[in-house]
Amino acid sequence: MKTFLLPHLICPACLPAEIPLKIDRSREDRGDIVSGKLSCEKCRRIFPIREGIAFLLIDPDSYRGGGQSRYDDTEMVNRYLWSHYADLAGVLSTGEANSAWAECLAETATTALDTGCAVGRLTFEMGSRGRWAVGCDLSLNFVRMARLLATERRCTFSLPLEGNLRESFSFELPEHLCSDTVEFVVANAQALPFARETFQQTASVNLLDRVSYPLAHLYEMNRVAHKAGASFLFADPFSWSAVSTPEDKWLGGTATGPYRGRGLDNVRSLLQGKDRIIAPVWNIIRETRISWAMRTHTNHTEIITSEVLVSTR
Ligand SMILES: C[S@@+](CC[C@H](N)C(=O)[O-])C[C@H]1O[C@@H](n2cnc3c(N)ncnc32)[C@H](O)[C@@H]1O
Repeated sequence: MKTFLLPHLICPACLPAEIPLKIDRSREDRGDIVSGKLSCEKCRRIFPIREGIAFLLIDPDSYRGGGQSRYDDTEMVNRYLWSHYADLAGVLSTGEANSAWAECLAETATTALDTGCAVGRLTFEMGSRGRWAVGCDLSLNFVRMARLLATERRCTFSLPLEGNLRESFSFELPEHLCSDTVEFVVANAQALPFARETFQQTASVNLLDRVSYPLAHLYEMNRVAHKAGASFLFADPFSWSAVSTPEDKWLGGTATGPYRGRGLDNVRSLLQGKDRIIAPVWNIIRETRISWAMRTHTNHTEIITSEVLVSTR
């Protein structure tokens, strides 16, 4: 874990109190803590750093390792590598989405957070626009792959061509996507291990309908964002499913309850101050839709459309 994160880390278990974490380094290599532990003096929890990866979860062993989640599956890592980087491997179909996401970011932002970052394309884009950027995800395999990319700056992966035949893809990170300003950690977007007002740019892209408590996630995104001079990129396809989110916690897609109707309308209202959950309020400066692709085999690519709110305050 790169040392630039240290001053901003707090204990996710002690929230809403913000208790800074203390570092005990076992091995450091040029500003990268390869192994060690972070600890909270209040609750005495230990957050390990193993093979350079910080585990910043309330229960540090609850990351989705060992294939417990579909997002930790090796084939899912390959599918997200294709979705995020196939344009760099010469596949045109994903290029438009990647540039569309990047265009929704502020031109400059000193510090940036990408929640549910998967294999990190947007985090790298953020890192190229400011002093540093951090991506967080619950999936250890995604974080491990994103960190490997930051170190190696190149990657080869494969996806099914047809049946058991596979097709290989190789790409390199272009020069403008810096690695040394970017870090990836295992953390929960509903209990973020960062101090309030740490980030000038925040992003929640295609995550809201995948967390167990979406309102808690939006509340956390608000807590860690600057109160002024901040940008927030929000996007979601609103594919509500009880598998990820209990129905009574959905922020849309129901006919009854405080968040009946469409998810986009409810998120817009929340950002604009409904029920005073989020403050200061955000100004929506752009609303758009971005379609992105997930490939299973050469003749099967899913196109998913996300509704996007770009806001500043
Ligand atoms: C649909 S994918 C979107 C990935 C990426 N943002 C994109 O748009 O390509 C959802 C991501 O959120 C991660 N995730 C799900 N629940 C999470 C949580 N509570 N905290 C952090 N990440 C989470 C998953 O592991 C996965 O990488």
